[in-house]
Amino acid sequence: MTPVRVLVTGGAGYIGSVATAMLLDAGHEVVVVDNLEVGHRAAVDGRASLRTGDLRDRDFVFRLLQDVRPDAVLHFAAYALVGESMRRPHAYFENNVAGTINLAGAMLRADVGRVVFSSSCATYGEPPAVPITEEMPQEPTNPYGESKRMCEKVLAWCGRTGGARTVSLRYFNASGATERYGEDHDPETHLIPIVIEAALGRREYVEVFGEDYDTPDGTCVRDYIHIVDLARAHMLALESRESGAFNLGTGAGYSVRQVIEAARRVTGREIPARTAARRPGDPARLVAAGDRARRILKWEPKRSDLDTILGSAWEWRRAHPDGYGDGTGGSRISP
Ligand code: UFG
Repeated sequence: MTPVRVLVTGGAGYIGSVATAMLLDAGHEVVVVDNLEVGHRAAVDGRASLRTGDLRDRDFVFRLLQDVRPDAVLHFAAYALVGESMRRPHAYFENNVAGTINLAGAMLRADVGRVVFSSSCATYGEPPAVPITEEMPQEPTNPYGESKRMCEKVLAWCGRTGGARTVSLRYFNASGATERYGEDHDPETHLIPIVIEAALGRREYVEVFGEDYDTPDGTCVRDYIHIVDLARAHMLALESRESGAFNLGTGAGYSVRQVIEAARRVTGREIPARTAARRPGDPARLVAAGDRARRILKWEPKRSDLDTILGSAWEWRRAHPDGYGDGTGGSRISP
């Protein structure tokens, strides 16, 4: 693909940072926009230009797009925690949906021809069956999933009427690390980094949220996908002529208990676990039917077997015991 100028929103975040580096390696020019509320300055590749600002600020977003005039936008920036969204729905709609509306308006004005959006399997809610196909109803069970579904619609309609190609990539459970980039949230709520922290002795035990789900061992089943595989899907979506929605998962589901067991094997550490109450908003099983992305985008997950994911997360955290340690990325949503 000939080099293009790409605006990456949320490029200081967990997945955006990896996609930014991959775009740069492929010869593209990258401008990152991030408010550094959840992202880390240290996670932005030095070859990218970083603009600090907030997508909720409409004037800022319009000025940014006029100034950068990107050929394409990869839109990662969002709040992305299911549990938090149940406590602070308004913040999720404001940041994710209003931010996306501002971005879509600015893209129309700047005549941007392509957008690749970070959507989520949380848009499906409790699916009628697994594996989940893109045609299944989107009936989210939490405000986070609802906000992503609304963003998909905003972008798809603006794209359809404004002439931009729009792809929504519905990630299943983003996980793993590269040598340089890993998961550093404060507070951490995701299963895999929590399990790794317990393996390192930085946490006494892992809480297993619910053991009475309708799954083989009673704990929730998820489809874990490596962030490098996710970033690669963005590259393919950027190059493709397609519009539409694609699931990004492996099709293999692992329960919370299986993840803990695998982490014990990979790390050689004990990792104590205790049963806790269900976490509100958690569907029992989320596993992707990934055929569409394979068929149309020619995407193939390469690093997403569970041991590779866990091993990479373990290596990154051992090399970065305090995460990015750069003083950004720590603040939370204000009440
Ligand atoms: N879990 C525990 N204990 C923990 C943390 C998590 O048992 O300490 C369980 C959760 O209940 C869930 C599973 O582990 O069943 C995975 O939880 P994560 O928080 O790691 O991931 P989620 O599945 O809740 O959410 C993630 C992303 C969302 C995305 C979603 C789709 O955060 O952005 O995957 O499943 F939408």
